[in-house]
Amino acid sequence: MNKVLTNGFILIVDDNPTNLSVLSEALASEGWRFRVAVDGESAIAQAERNQPELILLDVQMPGIDGFETCRRLKANPITQNVPIIFTTALTDTESKIKGFSLGAVDYIPKPFAQEEVIARVRVHLQLQQLTQSLEQQVSDRTNALEKAQVQLVQQEKLSTLGELIAGIAHEMNNPISFIINNIPPLKEYIAAITELLQLYEQEYPTPTTKITTFIKNLDLTFVIEDLVKILSSIQVGSERIQHLSTSLRSFSRSDSDTKLPADLHLGMDSTLMILQHRLKPNGDRPGIEVMRCYGKIPSVNCYVGEMNQVFMNLLANAIDALDEAIVQGKMCDRIPQIHITTDMNSQQMVVIKIADNGIGIPERLKQRLFEPLFTTKPVGKGTGLGLSIAHQIIVEKHNGTMEVNSQPGKGTEFSIAIPI
Ligand SMILES: Nc1ncnc2c1ncn2[C@@H]1O[C@H](COP(=O)(O)OP(=O)(O)OP(=O)(O)O)[C@@H](O)[C@H]1O
Ligand SMILES: [Mg+2]
Repeated sequence: MNKVLTNGFILIVDDNPTNLSVLSEALASEGWRFRVAVDGESAIAQAERNQPELILLDVQMPGIDGFETCRRLKANPITQNVPIIFTTALTDTESKIKGFSLGAVDYIPKPFAQEEVIARVRVHLQLQQLTQSLEQQVSDRTNALEKAQVQLVQQEKLSTLGELIAGIAHEMNNPISFIINNIPPLKEYIAAITELLQLYEQEYPTPTTKITTFIKNLDLTFVIEDLVKILSSIQVGSERIQHLSTSLRSFSRSDSDTKLPADLHLGMDSTLMILQHRLKPNGDRPGIEVMRCYGKIPSVNCYVGEMNQVFMNLLANAIDALDEAIVQGKMCDRIPQIHITTDMNSQQMVVIKIADNGIGIPERLKQRLFEPLFTTKPVGKGTGLGLSIAHQIIVEKHNGTMEVNSQPGKGTEFSIAIPI
């Protein structure tokens, strides 16, 4: 039972030596630590310096009385939460009410009965500790809730964004198909018309002046040559848009409630396609080389959209790590690279590794990486949710594992394993 006072102490405030010795004896008999103040002012100063767990406060003292001392303690943010018990010979109701109205939690009448002192002190120490632990629990839960909320909002945003992208990609598909499907007949027609023109030239070698002038002004030979080039670039361009639209759709494929077999290489490729703009050379930074070593892996039963989200987060982090290494001038001796390897392991799990040769991760930060909201990036750049979401998707939703290996200054490798 003595445990109720573990590290703290009780402050006794009384100017009367007899009272002090009775109270100290009572507290000491329980093994409780205590300190003593003989007037209100020094009690306040002590309590400010070192907060006691409880204060036993005499009412009638020279200088400021117990009521005033109590009022000042309660008005001070540092001491306001320390419970105060009045010790008083004044048993009239008015004084008791005044004590309670000033914020006291109890009173002990004088002369003291040792058992009563101990019993009342014990109750209030326990109450105080319960309150503290409740406050701690409430604040822990509030923190956890806040984190969960941020995560939910983030996921909700991503899924809305995903639907939007899928919708746009779908709408893009029709007009692109018109263009792509019409290019072959267009090429044919133009070839035929060109042939017809040549035929005219052969059959009518001397046309009228009006026609010769027109041909000369037009620069017909150039136009015919250029027409073919223009058609080819239209074809290449529209094929690229079509490719992008397919990637966007497969990347943001809205997830069904059940897992479906999926080709993870396809997901990885569409994610890379979407990140293309970040891989290209920009400003002082050379382009990032992406090396893909895809092994033979079967389809994996998974939530495709979420797996793509994992790839996106890992690749975006790798690109950030390379950018940062360049900013810090650490890439002078090497080309920025990302290696992606896929394979099966001995436990029939698909293993995907994404490695970069960027800044790496200091040892002391490693165990915090998967914490929600942990980030080393400036405000506005990173939310610190990428890895925690990825970890949740891999470990909780797919029964997989996610590990990190890093050499500070050399690079980082994230390794995911998921059961097929
Ligand atoms: N490939 C990597 N190389 C070096 N550090 C990394 C790498 N991946 C993650 N980190 C470190 O882990 C931290 C947490 O990553 P996480 O993806 O969770 O958040 P973030 O990238 O900071 O923000 P965001 O929510 O935008 O992803 C990063 O801030 C970074 O310090
Ligand atoms: Mg990130």
